[in-house]
Amino acid sequence: MTQNPIIPETPSAEEYGADADQGSVFTSRDPYQLFEEWLTLAKKHEINDPNAMSLATVDQHRMPDVRMVLLKDLSGKGFSFYTNNDSAKGEQLAANQKAALCFHWKSIRRQVRVRGTVDLMSNQESDAYFAKRSRGSKIGAWASKQSHMLEEQGALEARVKEFDAKFGDDVPRPPNWQGYVVDPLEIEFWVNRPFRLHDRLVFARQPKGWVTGRLYP
Ligand SMILES: Cc1cc2nc3c(=O)[nH]c(=O)nc-3n(C[C@H](O)[C@H](O)[C@H](O)COP(=O)(O)O)c2cc1C
Repeated sequence: MTQNPIIPETPSAEEYGADADQGSVFTSRDPYQLFEEWLTLAKKHEINDPNAMSLATVDQHRMPDVRMVLLKDLSGKGFSFYTNNDSAKGEQLAANQKAALCFHWKSIRRQVRVRGTVDLMSNQESDAYFAKRSRGSKIGAWASKQSHMLEEQGALEARVKEFDAKFGDDVPRPPNWQGYVVDPLEIEFWVNRPFRLHDRLVFARQPKGWVTGRLYP
């Protein structure tokens, strides 16, 4: 069987044990559906931002970097988020279109990890999402030179005023504010169990579809 090209060490369906028991929390063999079920549960229990996920990238020295972003959509194309592409993460993703995501829902003691390749959304898609934001958030996107040093105290507030005065009701999307989609090659679902005997189910994308397997905790 052809191996996953990005994660060559990914085991084949046979090595994973395609018929492994999935346990009661692993209610679907479709990782997108399973993720939606877990996120729905997390939304009922998390006090804030159940859609928050850590986004890991590497810099030009191959030094890992990580920060939180918000998942805005999960579609056939993958997990999407929005950011400034002149930020540290934006520059890292321009140089290396690979990333990992991690969701941890403390309230339900579950974790989901994702590894994949990253694509920029089209300008039209980014425009459509930007249009839904509040005017204040739109002005904020123009005002923030995300990840760059503040020149002096008050510089951000001054830029907020400047762009607030510049635009009327119709605030366009800054050209450097865009959507990104992580196209998953591997998705792992983890659930807490007593005595640290946790359950882990991993899905790996192969040319013919997803294969699954269970991992030791
Ligand atoms: C819960 C949470 C959600 C966040 N969501 C986003 C987001 O969707 N997009 C974004 O650009 N930054 C978001 N941030 C801020 C980032 O964590 C980070 O500070 C910022 O993007 C700069 O990261 P960088 O310097 O690595 O590019 C969020 C922070 C937190 C704590």
